[in-house]
Amino acid sequence: MRVSVITVSDSSHAGTRVDESGPKLVELVDKSLKVNATVNVGSPTVVPDDVKEIRKALLEKCKDSDVIITTGGTGFSKRDVTPEATLEVIERRCNGMEIAMHTGSLKVTPMAALSRAIVGIRGGTLIINMPGSVKAVKECWEILEPVLNHALDLLK
Ligand code: MTE
Repeated sequence: MRVSVITVSDSSHAGTRVDESGPKLVELVDKSLKVNATVNVGSPTVVPDDVKEIRKALLEKCKDSDVIITTGGTGFSKRDVTPEATLEVIERRCNGMEIAMHTGSLKVTPMAALSRAIVGIRGGTLIINMPGSVKAVKECWEILEPVLNHALDLLK
């Protein structure tokens, strides 16, 4: 299983803020999927909060990934455009996984209502948006991880 992580953050891209949620996702994916499958997850790709840049990174990673997880840029600020870029790339939307992530997150924090995260499929690649904090990626991964192996089996 080939997993790619994309961190979307102006400040991490500019080098003024250390990317913590990307490496945390890599660690989580590596740890939990290794139990069931051969997992290949590389270092996070860091891109700025820019639709063109995010779309370019998503399309590039779609070429050789079964799953792409983005972290960051799902909120309400003007620069939060990860969902818009994702909607341009996906062919089929996975509402169930979006609902699972949102309702599961709302059990932990009411702030989950402020994420516009999208999940969708392009070709054989599942694309998942997650918010941009270590806490949020841990919580979202815990929610989606149990369904991921079966989701990917269906995509083959
Ligand atoms: N979801 C979970 N599970 N845990 C969280 O801490 N934080 C919320 C929300 N979703 C959060 C969460 C907050 S505070 C914001 S502003 C939005 O995600 C958007 O975050 P982003 O802009 O970093 O993507």
